[in-house]
Amino acid sequence: MTVVFQKAIARLWEWRNSKDVSELGRIDSIAPILECNRRSLKRVGRWIEDGVYNSAVFGYGIPDRIKHLIDKEVGDDITCSDLLLYFSQLLEENLSYLELGVSVGKNFWQVLNFHTHSNLTGFDIELINPVLQGFLTKVGSVEWETMGGSAKKGISSLTAYRYEANQNTVSYLSGDILDENSWKRLWGQKFNLVFSDALHDPEALLFEWKMIEKYRLLNDNEFVIAWDDLGGLMTISFIRIFAEIRKRYRLQRRNGFLTHCRGWLGVNEPEHAIGIIVNVPHSYC
Ligand SMILES: C[S@@+](CC[C@H](N)C(=O)[O-])C[C@H]1O[C@@H](n2cnc3c(N)ncnc32)[C@H](O)[C@@H]1O
Repeated sequence: MTVVFQKAIARLWEWRNSKDVSELGRIDSIAPILECNRRSLKRVGRWIEDGVYNSAVFGYGIPDRIKHLIDKEVGDDITCSDLLLYFSQLLEENLSYLELGVSVGKNFWQVLNFHTHSNLTGFDIELINPVLQGFLTKVGSVEWETMGGSAKKGISSLTAYRYEANQNTVSYLSGDILDENSWKRLWGQKFNLVFSDALHDPEALLFEWKMIEKYRLLNDNEFVIAWDDLGGLMTISFIRIFAEIRKRYRLQRRNGFLTHCRGWLGVNEPEHAIGIIVNVPHSYC
Protein backbone atom coordinates (compact mmCIF):
# COMPACT_ATOMS: atom_id res chain seq x y z
CA MET A 1 0.00 0.00 0.00
CA THR A 2 1.47 3.37 -0.94
CA VAL A 3 2.09 6.04 1.67
CA VAL A 4 -0.39 8.37 -0.06
CA PHE A 5 -3.08 5.68 0.08
CA GLN A 6 -2.34 4.94 3.75
CA LYS A 7 -2.58 8.63 4.62
CA ALA A 8 -5.93 8.82 2.82
CA ILE A 9 -7.20 5.84 4.87
CA ALA A 10 -5.96 7.52 8.06
CA ARG A 11 -7.83 10.73 7.20
CA LEU A 12 -11.02 8.81 6.41
CA TRP A 13 -10.77 6.88 9.69
CA GLU A 14 -10.16 10.10 11.63
CA TRP A 15 -13.17 11.71 9.98
CA ARG A 16 -15.44 8.76 10.86
CA ASN A 17 -14.09 8.19 14.36
CA SER A 18 -13.28 11.62 15.75
CA LYS A 19 -14.81 12.89 18.94
CA ASP A 20 -15.08 16.45 20.09
CA VAL A 21 -13.63 16.62 23.62
CA SER A 22 -16.63 18.64 24.75
CA GLU A 23 -18.92 15.75 23.73
CA LEU A 24 -17.22 13.26 26.03
CA GLY A 25 -20.23 12.74 28.37
CA ARG A 26 -20.29 14.11 31.94
CA ILE A 27 -17.70 16.61 30.88
CA ASP A 28 -18.55 18.69 33.97
CA SER A 29 -16.49 16.20 35.93
CA ILE A 30 -13.40 17.45 34.15
CA ALA A 31 -13.43 20.79 36.05
CA PRO A 32 -11.86 19.42 39.28
CA ILE A 33 -9.22 17.72 37.13
CA LEU A 34 -8.29 20.99 35.45
CA GLU A 35 -8.03 22.70 38.84
CA CYS A 36 -5.84 19.98 40.31
CA ASN A 37 -3.59 19.87 37.24
CA ARG A 38 -3.06 23.63 37.09
CA ARG A 39 -2.30 23.60 40.83
CA SER A 40 0.26 20.82 40.35
CA LEU A 41 1.97 22.66 37.49
CA LYS A 42 2.18 25.87 39.56
CA ARG A 43 4.30 23.99 42.11
CA VAL A 44 7.14 23.70 39.58
CA GLY A 45 8.63 27.00 38.48
CA ARG A 46 11.41 25.69 36.25
CA TRP A 47 11.20 22.27 34.63
CA ILE A 48 14.75 21.78 33.42
CA GLU A 49 18.21 23.10 34.21
CA ASP A 50 20.48 23.93 31.25
CA GLY A 51 23.19 21.46 32.30
CA VAL A 52 20.71 18.57 32.39
CA TYR A 53 19.18 19.59 29.05
CA ASN A 54 22.56 19.90 27.36
CA SER A 55 23.77 16.47 28.47
CA ALA A 56 20.55 14.66 27.50
CA VAL A 57 20.19 12.09 24.69
CA PHE A 58 17.31 13.82 22.90
CA GLY A 59 17.05 17.00 24.99
CA TYR A 60 14.13 15.38 26.86
CA GLY A 61 12.15 15.62 23.61
CA ILE A 62 12.09 19.42 23.86
CA PRO A 63 13.38 21.00 20.65
CA ASP A 64 15.34 24.23 21.16
CA ARG A 65 12.63 26.28 19.44
CA ILE A 66 10.01 25.45 22.10
CA LYS A 67 12.27 25.26 25.16
CA HIS A 68 11.19 28.72 26.34
CA LEU A 69 7.54 27.52 26.37
CA ILE A 70 7.97 24.57 28.71
CA ASP A 71 7.57 26.65 31.90
CA LYS A 72 4.73 28.85 30.61
CA GLU A 73 1.21 28.51 32.00
CA VAL A 74 -0.80 26.04 29.92
CA GLY A 75 -4.08 27.99 30.09
CA ASP A 76 -7.64 26.77 30.62
CA ASP A 77 -8.25 24.66 27.51
CA ILE A 78 -8.46 20.89 28.06
CA THR A 79 -5.01 19.35 27.72
CA CYS A 80 -4.02 15.80 27.04
CA SER A 81 -3.18 15.41 30.76
CA ASP A 82 -6.71 16.54 31.69
CA LEU A 83 -8.18 14.07 29.24
CA LEU A 84 -6.02 11.22 30.46
CA LEU A 85 -7.14 11.83 34.03
CA TYR A 86 -10.75 12.12 32.93
CA PHE A 87 -10.51 8.60 31.50
CA SER A 88 -8.56 7.33 34.51
CA GLN A 89 -11.64 8.05 36.62
CA LEU A 90 -13.57 5.40 34.70
CA LEU A 91 -11.24 2.71 36.04
CA GLU A 92 -12.53 0.71 38.99
CA GLU A 93 -9.26 -0.72 40.28
CA ASN A 94 -6.43 1.33 41.74
CA LEU A 95 -4.46 3.13 39.09
CA SER A 96 -1.51 1.29 37.63
CA TYR A 97 -0.03 3.72 35.12
CA LEU A 98 2.61 3.37 32.42
CA GLU A 99 3.93 6.45 30.61
CA LEU A 100 6.12 5.82 27.58
CA GLY A 101 8.11 9.02 27.09
CA VAL A 102 8.18 11.01 30.31
CA SER A 103 10.47 13.87 29.29
CA VAL A 104 10.87 16.33 32.18
CA GLY A 105 7.81 14.80 33.85
CA LYS A 106 5.18 17.45 33.20
CA ASN A 107 2.33 15.03 32.50
CA PHE A 108 3.69 12.38 34.90
CA TRP A 109 3.70 14.96 37.72
CA GLN A 110 0.03 15.77 37.15
CA VAL A 111 -0.97 12.08 37.27
CA LEU A 112 1.19 11.63 40.38
CA ASN A 113 -0.61 14.44 42.20
CA PHE A 114 -4.12 13.56 41.08
CA HIS A 115 -4.11 9.92 42.16
CA THR A 116 -3.36 8.38 45.55
CA HIS A 117 -2.39 4.81 46.53
CA SER A 118 -1.35 4.14 42.96
CA ASN A 119 1.58 2.71 41.01
CA LEU A 120 3.15 4.85 38.35
CA THR A 121 5.87 3.76 35.94
CA GLY A 122 7.72 6.12 33.63
CA PHE A 123 9.87 4.87 30.73
CA ASP A 124 12.22 7.19 28.88
CA ILE A 125 15.62 7.06 27.20
CA GLU A 126 16.69 10.00 29.39
CA LEU A 127 17.71 9.82 33.04
CA ILE A 128 14.97 10.94 35.38
CA ASN A 129 14.76 14.72 35.42
CA PRO A 130 16.35 15.84 38.74
CA VAL A 131 13.43 18.27 39.21
CA LEU A 132 10.95 15.37 39.26
CA GLN A 133 13.30 13.18 41.28
CA GLY A 134 13.56 15.95 43.90
CA PHE A 135 9.94 15.26 44.95
CA LEU A 136 10.52 11.50 45.35
CA THR A 137 12.14 9.24 47.93
CA LYS A 138 14.46 6.67 46.39
CA VAL A 139 13.93 3.04 47.41
CA GLY A 140 16.30 1.03 45.19
CA SER A 141 17.66 0.53 41.71
CA VAL A 142 18.81 -2.16 39.24
CA GLU A 143 20.99 -1.64 36.17
CA TRP A 144 21.74 -3.55 32.96
CA GLU A 145 23.57 -3.13 29.65
CA THR A 146 21.73 -1.11 27.00
CA MET A 147 21.40 -2.87 23.63
CA GLY A 148 24.12 -2.16 21.08
CA GLY A 149 23.26 0.52 18.54
CA SER A 150 20.90 2.40 20.87
CA ALA A 151 21.00 6.20 20.99
CA LYS A 152 21.40 5.69 24.74
CA LYS A 153 25.10 5.26 25.39
CA GLY A 154 25.17 4.55 29.13
CA ILE A 155 23.60 1.74 31.12
CA SER A 156 19.85 1.32 31.47
CA SER A 157 18.20 1.27 34.88
CA LEU A 158 14.97 0.79 36.78
CA THR A 159 14.64 2.82 39.96
CA ALA A 160 11.90 2.54 42.56
CA TYR A 161 10.69 5.59 44.49
CA ARG A 162 7.88 6.58 46.83
CA TYR A 163 5.84 9.74 46.53
CA GLU A 164 4.92 10.12 50.18
CA ALA A 165 2.46 13.01 49.73
CA ASN A 166 -0.03 10.78 47.85
CA GLN A 167 1.22 7.39 49.04
CA ASN A 168 2.10 6.44 45.48
CA THR A 169 4.86 4.13 44.34
CA VAL A 170 6.89 5.25 41.34
CA SER A 171 9.23 3.34 39.03
CA TYR A 172 11.41 5.08 36.51
CA LEU A 173 12.86 3.02 33.68
CA SER A 174 15.70 4.81 31.94
CA GLY A 175 16.11 2.84 28.72
CA ASP A 176 15.46 2.72 25.02
CA ILE A 177 11.87 1.90 24.11
CA LEU A 178 13.27 -0.10 21.16
CA ASP A 179 15.37 -2.28 23.51
CA GLU A 180 13.50 -5.45 24.49
CA ASN A 181 15.74 -5.84 27.56
CA SER A 182 14.03 -2.77 29.01
CA TRP A 183 10.55 -4.21 28.50
CA LYS A 184 11.58 -7.47 30.19
CA ARG A 185 12.02 -5.48 33.39
CA LEU A 186 8.31 -4.66 33.42
CA TRP A 187 7.30 -8.33 33.30
CA GLY A 188 4.65 -9.13 35.94
CA GLN A 189 3.12 -5.66 36.02
CA LYS A 190 -0.48 -5.08 34.94
CA PHE A 191 -1.25 -1.55 33.80
CA ASN A 192 -4.76 -0.16 33.46
CA LEU A 193 -3.71 3.20 32.04
CA VAL A 194 -1.03 3.54 29.37
CA PHE A 195 0.11 6.76 27.72
CA SER A 196 2.29 6.36 24.64
CA ASP A 197 4.25 9.55 24.01
CA ALA A 198 7.86 8.50 23.34
CA LEU A 199 9.17 7.93 19.84
CA HIS A 200 6.67 9.43 17.39
CA ASP A 201 7.24 6.92 14.66
CA PRO A 202 4.70 4.43 13.18
CA GLU A 203 7.03 1.42 13.56
CA ALA A 204 7.91 2.38 17.15
CA LEU A 205 4.20 2.38 18.09
CA LEU A 206 3.82 -1.13 16.67
CA PHE A 207 6.94 -2.28 18.53
CA GLU A 208 5.65 -0.85 21.83
CA TRP A 209 2.37 -2.67 21.31
CA LYS A 210 4.23 -5.91 20.52
CA MET A 211 6.15 -5.58 23.80
CA ILE A 212 3.02 -4.78 25.79
CA GLU A 213 1.46 -7.93 24.36
CA LYS A 214 4.52 -10.16 24.73
CA TYR A 215 5.07 -9.24 28.38
CA ARG A 216 1.32 -9.22 29.08
CA LEU A 217 1.44 -5.76 30.56
CA LEU A 218 -2.26 -4.90 30.30
CA ASN A 219 -4.82 -5.42 33.02
CA ASP A 220 -7.29 -7.53 31.02
CA ASN A 221 -10.23 -6.48 33.22
CA GLU A 222 -10.01 -2.81 32.34
CA PHE A 223 -7.68 -0.44 30.59
CA VAL A 224 -7.39 2.85 28.79
CA ILE A 225 -4.57 3.50 26.32
CA ALA A 226 -3.83 6.89 24.80
CA TRP A 227 -1.40 7.85 22.04
CA ASP A 228 -0.25 11.43 21.67
CA ASP A 229 0.60 13.20 18.43
CA LEU A 230 -1.12 10.90 15.95
CA GLY A 231 -1.71 11.79 12.31
CA GLY A 232 -0.66 10.27 8.99
CA LEU A 233 1.12 6.93 9.31
CA MET A 234 1.02 7.09 13.12
CA THR A 235 -2.77 6.92 12.81
CA ILE A 236 -2.40 3.82 10.62
CA SER A 237 -0.43 2.12 13.44
CA PHE A 238 -3.14 3.16 15.89
CA ILE A 239 -5.87 1.71 13.62
CA ARG A 240 -3.96 -1.58 13.38
CA ILE A 241 -3.49 -1.79 17.14
CA PHE A 242 -7.16 -0.95 17.70
CA ALA A 243 -8.23 -3.68 15.27
CA GLU A 244 -6.24 -6.25 17.30
CA ILE A 245 -7.49 -5.01 20.65
CA ARG A 246 -11.07 -4.80 19.40
CA LYS A 247 -11.01 -8.43 18.28
CA ARG A 248 -9.29 -9.72 21.42
CA TYR A 249 -11.51 -7.86 23.91
CA ARG A 250 -14.68 -7.88 21.79
CA LEU A 251 -14.99 -4.11 21.83
CA GLN A 252 -17.31 -1.86 19.83
CA ARG A 253 -16.08 0.53 17.19
CA ARG A 254 -16.83 3.44 19.52
CA ASN A 255 -14.27 2.13 22.03
CA GLY A 256 -11.49 3.57 19.90
CA PHE A 257 -11.47 7.13 18.60
CA LEU A 258 -9.43 10.19 17.84
CA THR A 259 -9.79 13.56 19.43
CA HIS A 260 -7.92 16.84 19.47
CA CYS A 261 -6.80 18.75 22.52
CA ARG A 262 -3.95 20.86 23.82
CA GLY A 263 -0.66 19.12 24.50
CA TRP A 264 1.99 19.58 27.19
CA LEU A 265 2.50 23.25 26.23
CA GLY A 266 -1.23 23.98 26.51
CA VAL A 267 -2.42 27.09 24.65
CA ASN A 268 1.15 27.86 23.60
CA GLU A 269 1.05 25.39 20.70
CA PRO A 270 -1.60 23.96 18.34
CA GLU A 271 -3.84 21.08 19.41
CA HIS A 272 -2.56 17.50 19.26
CA ALA A 273 -4.33 14.51 17.69
CA ILE A 274 -4.84 11.92 20.43
CA GLY A 275 -5.93 8.33 19.86
CA ILE A 276 -7.76 6.64 22.72
CA ILE A 277 -8.88 3.06 23.32
CA VAL A 278 -11.22 2.53 26.23
CA ASN A 279 -11.98 -0.88 27.70
CA VAL A 280 -13.81 -0.26 30.96
CA PRO A 281 -16.55 -2.36 32.62
CA HIS A 282 -19.22 0.35 32.33
CA SER A 283 -20.34 2.51 29.47
CA TYR A 284 -18.38 5.74 29.30
CA CYS A 285 -20.37 8.05 27.04
C1 LIG B 1 7.06 14.45 23.86
S1 LIG B 1 8.20 13.93 25.08
C2 LIG B 1 7.15 13.25 26.33
C3 LIG B 1 6.27 14.27 27.01
C4 LIG B 1 5.57 13.77 28.24
N1 LIG B 1 4.83 12.55 27.99
C5 LIG B 1 4.61 14.82 28.75
O1 LIG B 1 3.46 14.88 28.26
O2 LIG B 1 4.98 15.57 29.66
C6 LIG B 1 8.89 12.51 24.33
C7 LIG B 1 9.90 11.76 25.17
O3 LIG B 1 10.16 10.51 24.54
C8 LIG B 1 11.49 10.15 24.78
N2 LIG B 1 11.98 9.20 23.76
C9 LIG B 1 12.24 9.43 22.45
N3 LIG B 1 12.73 8.32 21.88
C10 LIG B 1 12.80 7.37 22.84
C11 LIG B 1 13.25 6.01 22.87
N4 LIG B 1 13.74 5.41 21.79
N5 LIG B 1 13.18 5.34 24.03
C12 LIG B 1 12.67 5.93 25.14
N6 LIG B 1 12.25 7.21 25.17
C13 LIG B 1 12.31 7.93 24.05
C14 LIG B 1 12.24 11.48 24.72
O4 LIG B 1 13.44 11.38 25.46
C15 LIG B 1 11.24 12.45 25.34
O5 LIG B 1 11.53 12.64 26.68
